[in-house]
Amino acid sequence: MPKKMVKKNTKEKNKIDEVVKSNKNRSSKFQLVRGTKDILPSRQKYFLWLYDEVKRIASSYSFDKIETPILEHTNLFVRGVGKQTDIVEKEMFSFVDQGGDNLTLRPEGTAAVARAYIEHGMLSWPQPVKLWYWGKMLRHERPQAGRLREFHQYGFEILGSSDAMVDAQIIFITYKILSGLGLNVIIAINSIGTVECRHQYKKVLVDYFRTKRSVLSDVAKKQLTKNPLRILDSKDPGLQSVIEQAPQIFDYLSQESKDHFMKVLDYLDELDVPIIMKPNLVRGLDYYNYTVFEVWNNEEESSKAAALGGGGRYDGLVELLGGRPTPAAGVALGIERIVAKLKQAEIAPPTEDSPDIFVAQLGEEAKRKSLLLFEELRLAGVKVSESLSKEGLKSQLEIANKLKVKYAIILGQKEILDGTVMLRDMENGIQEIVDIKKITNEVKKRLDKRLKIKK
Ligand code: HAM
Repeated sequence: MPKKMVKKNTKEKNKIDEVVKSNKNRSSKFQLVRGTKDILPSRQKYFLWLYDEVKRIASSYSFDKIETPILEHTNLFVRGVGKQTDIVEKEMFSFVDQGGDNLTLRPEGTAAVARAYIEHGMLSWPQPVKLWYWGKMLRHERPQAGRLREFHQYGFEILGSSDAMVDAQIIFITYKILSGLGLNVIIAINSIGTVECRHQYKKVLVDYFRTKRSVLSDVAKKQLTKNPLRILDSKDPGLQSVIEQAPQIFDYLSQESKDHFMKVLDYLDELDVPIIMKPNLVRGLDYYNYTVFEVWNNEEESSKAAALGGGGRYDGLVELLGGRPTPAAGVALGIERIVAKLKQAEIAPPTEDSPDIFVAQLGEEAKRKSLLLFEELRLAGVKVSESLSKEGLKSQLEIANKLKVKYAIILGQKEILDGTVMLRDMENGIQEIVDIKKITNEVKKRLDKRLKIKK
């Protein structure tokens, strides 16, 4: 092992020893890491519902799913997202691994998708390449309402087309999914033009903010020299009127940028997507050009609450990461924020189909047989439930009652010897003995008959 590595490994071991030592003799109670959350079954239902909806719309608009690793080389984000962005400056979970590589737990998905596009030669695939993803992201932010350190995003990226229709389609499907769930959303939109437009605009903006230095916060003063556009995004109440009166980027857009933006707006109008123009919207990631947008809950758009999602065009990113020039656009949505909005609006996921049959058992042999019967019923397409961990018949039938099943099949010791089961109608309590070999057919027949009567 090289000397340097031995030294490093010893250092890591010492750190672990320290943790071990500090934990000795302590009956420690473990808790979640700050800013992370368990997704318990009640919230899981919302996640699964949203996942199904995203997947359905993605496939009908011909997006293919991609998964990128949770770990990437730190430089991917430094280069892709931008050295002077909040994400890179202060929010990345980065570390040097045992092999000396600088790695980062991904804070966002777009740079990783662009890396994958280059690495797998997607340029030679039919263009544009349409991809969607769903996964965990990590940012070391100050946890508060709607802001976590580990959160989930789903996103859509279209790489390989500069057509304004691509920007519009990304916004359209974003709107379709959320409004389809019953949320009242609006798209705040702006154009930030090309690098050249922004270069010119930044100069004007810096001149303007210099005249307002006395009201600028320390943070804003720093941004003024590093990344003046970020001041426009400030939530500082004391700055809002200064921001409102600032020169607007639209006046510095090239003709091409303006034409592109007009086309996007035209398509969105045609598609009936509700939008609001936001001349100060610049977004916090460096890879954007032309269209930028955020997705807001309609009632909260003007407040300083958190956006549900954001995106835009990023024509320079693939080239910046070492690929061929590839125009692209995309969006990512915060899943926790969407779920919170659904709950707040009292929109619940559709209830799952309840089971029709419950299999109850008494005794070891019956338990074994009931496993096989359960599988036989499931394969025959019957919606079936069980509670194999419960012993008493009474407690099992109580569960069957709660589940509102139509029939319970009871396997007792006597029935097992006879090769029969007891079929209990849960509505009237009538019980019949049925040959175990015929039970699946019998149950299917009865359920079909009920369905016909209902129709
Ligand atoms: P972003 O605006 O940084 O954009 O994040 C998109 C969404 O992720 C946010 O609007 C929010 O809903 C959610 N989000 C971000 N940070 C947190 C957090 N700490 N806690 C909870 N939710 C959060 C991007 O990530 C870009 N990659 C979007 C994109 C895709 N642009 C082009 N393609």
